[in-house]
This record gives sequence, C-alpha cells and structure tokens, in this order.
Amino acid sequence: MRAAVLTSQGQPLEVLDNIDVAEPGPGQVLVKVAACGICHSDVTIMDLGHQLPMVLGHEAAGTVEAVGPGVRRLAAGDQVMLTPLGPCGRCYWCVRGEHTICADAQQFVGGTLSDGTTPLSRDGEDVWQGLGVGGFGEYSLVEERNAVKLDPDVPLDIACVIGCAMQTGVGAVLNTADVEAGATVLVTGLGGIGIATVQGARIAGAARIIVSDPVEDRRDAAIHFGATDVLDPGEDDVVARTRELTGGIGVDYAFDSAGYAPLLADCVAASRVGGTTVSVGVPSFEQPLHIEGAFQIASHEKKIIGSLLGSVHSHHEVPRLIALWRRGLLDLEAMITQRYSLDEINHGVDDLRNTRGIRSVISL
Ligand SMILES: NC(=O)c1ccc[n+]([C@@H]2O[C@H](COP(=O)([O-])OP(=O)(O)OC[C@H]3O[C@@H](n4cnc5c(N)ncnc54)[C@H](O)[C@@H]3O)[C@@H](O)[C@H]2O)c1
Ligand SMILES: [Zn+2]
Ligand SMILES: [Zn+2]
Repeated sequence: MRAAVLTSQGQPLEVLDNIDVAEPGPGQVLVKVAACGICHSDVTIMDLGHQLPMVLGHEAAGTVEAVGPGVRRLAAGDQVMLTPLGPCGRCYWCVRGEHTICADAQQFVGGTLSDGTTPLSRDGEDVWQGLGVGGFGEYSLVEERNAVKLDPDVPLDIACVIGCAMQTGVGAVLNTADVEAGATVLVTGLGGIGIATVQGARIAGAARIIVSDPVEDRRDAAIHFGATDVLDPGEDDVVARTRELTGGIGVDYAFDSAGYAPLLADCVAASRVGGTTVSVGVPSFEQPLHIEGAFQIASHEKKIIGSLLGSVHSHHEVPRLIALWRRGLLDLEAMITQRYSLDEINHGVDDLRNTRGIRSVISL
C-alpha cells in the first residue's frame, strides 16, 4: 500500500508505495482508510522521532476490508471510525470506567498492537503504526475495539475529525469536567482541539465561553463555534480580563487546549475559588508546571485534572457525537479548512505548524 512515512526525526513525511500490511488475525480488522485529519500530536511525534519508521495519523475513518477470526461486531463493507484508544474492558482502569487510560491500550501510542507487534512492514523490516491508527496510509490493521461502526450514510471525509479532535475537546467538557448548563468557561488555544472544546462548552450550555489565542483567524472562527468573549494574549492580560468578564469571580472551568504549561498556571489563576482547570493540550516532556501561590489549591479548593482523549469510551462517544452532528448541534464541516491528497500531506503538516485554518484532512 501507499503511506506517508516518518523516516527521520523532524523531517517531512515521505510518501512510499511499498508498505506491506498484515492480513487480519484473530480479533483484528483491516480497514481501508478514507480520510484522516492532522493533529498536533502527530507533529509532536514527528519532532520526537522515536520508533522509526512510523505511519502517523490518528483521526481517521474508513471501510472494513476484511475481518479476522472471532470478530463479531464488524463485517467487510462496514463504515468505521478508527479510535486511538480502544479500551480492553478488563484491566484495573477499564473496570473503574477510566477507559482512555486502559493499561492494555497505551502501547498503541508507541505504534504497536496490544501484543507488541506491528502490522506494517517494508522489505521485511518493521514499520510502526503510530497512535494506534496509522491513518496516513491506505490501510490500517487494528483490533476490533479500535474501530467503531458508523451508519452507512455518514460521510467519512467529514466524520474523521471525530476520531481525535471531537472526542478530545467535546469529551473534556462533557466527560472529564462534566460542565453544567449556565457555567462559565475559559479555553486557551484554538486549534482543532480548542475549537472542539469550545463546541463542547456550547453543547453543555455554558453561559460564557471566553477564549484566547494569538492567531486572529482562529479567534474569529471561535465566535462561529460558540465563543462569547475573545481575548488576544498578545494584548490582553488573559487572567485579569477573565476575572473582569466574570464579575471578579473567575471561571467555573478553565481548559488549556494549547499544551503549554504556563497556560495551565494561567488557567488556575483565572478559575474561581472551587473552580476546575483541565489539562487537554499536552505540554512537551521537559516543561515543569509552576503554580504561583500553591496555597490556592488547598485553601481555595482549586482542582487541576488531566483529560486524555476526552475521557471517552469511544463505542459510546462516537455515536453520541454523530447524533449531535445530525441534530445540528455539532459542527464538523467548518472544522475542516483544508483538504489534501496523500502526496500533498506535508502541506497539511506545514499548515498545522503555522496555525493556518483549523484542521487539514488527507483524502486517501
Ligand atoms: N489530551 C488529549 O487527549 C489530546 C489529544 C489530541 C491533541 N492533544 C494536544 O492538544 C494540543 C492542541 O492540539 P491542536 O491539534 O489543536 O494543535 P494546534 O497547533 O492546531 O493548536 C494549538 C493552538 O494553541 C495556540 N496557542 C499558542 N500559544 C498560545 C497562548 N500563549 N495562548 C493561547 N493560545 C496559544 C496556537 O496559536 C494554536 O492555535 C496539543 O498539545 C496536542 O498534542 C491532546
Ligand atoms: Zn490527536
Ligand atoms: Zn483496559
């Protein structure tokens, strides 16, 4: 098959046409990928460059080509959403309902199936399937739990952004934070993840959705998706303005969807006494978190919580997000601002690095 492959750290992806994909074994599903969005986490892995060569892309939808023995929920011809973290349902975390931190799913991030092998190869050498999906290739071989069946009328080239952005952003609001109607919310960072967070806050019925991003086009776009107040961190003191906009109280919930530790500290400062800060964006490994006035965590009962893939159970969340989209409550179409062929994939990567548009989607 053809796939865009990360062959060296920090370099553009190489489109190769000699990647082999294994036949589906027991419990496995071979999916012909139709479309895949580009997320900042792909670029983070490109820049880290461990486990090479790797096929990245984890926001994908496609059609089942073949299923292995024992697969019960899916059959050839079914449309599916691929999900980076399909829960095993049996481990310490799954049985407590903490599905995205399933102990038997974390190896997907490293590029293997749960048995530690990869289904991809090139001239007999291993090629890793990044973030459990490998959506920048024509085929993906996943375990049944990493594929969620979609109705046949769902357009795959639009729905694909549910795979990461919408599960992550909407899920952070509805599941991780459980924002209630009428709440006040701050979102820092307005890429695909931040815009999805804004949409989640709108769906939850938040009364005030304050947003911040240095990129003017993204601030303007956020208003379309439900933001009520827009701040420019280059001009505005985001913490002070957020407090002003909430009558001196601070927001009930603050989400950092940019992935920069100082913004997490700002979120804590901008949240009210008793408020909650949610870390959605992922700061790079070397960043420490420095909180000015750590007393406020105890004395003001301020909470800081992490959210991986929106704390979802994908087999519940994907159909729920599709249902919200059908009702006109979730805007998927406007999330996709650029479309590229596989050969043009590095334009999409450049768009992400240069904060152009919101999401670029690759058609396969
Ligand atoms: N928790 C999860 O499960 C999960 C899932 C997917 C992605 N992520 C992470 O979410 C983050 C965002 O991903 P994305 O694809 O939306 O990335 P993106 O690069 O498209 O968007 C990041 C945005 O942050 C903005 N930003 C930068 N500095 C800022 C500042 N000082 N104040 C406000 N905004 C600022 C940028 O202008 C940009 O618009 C990344 O760290 C990514 O790795 C987390
Ligand atoms: Zn992602
Ligand atoms: Zn599990």
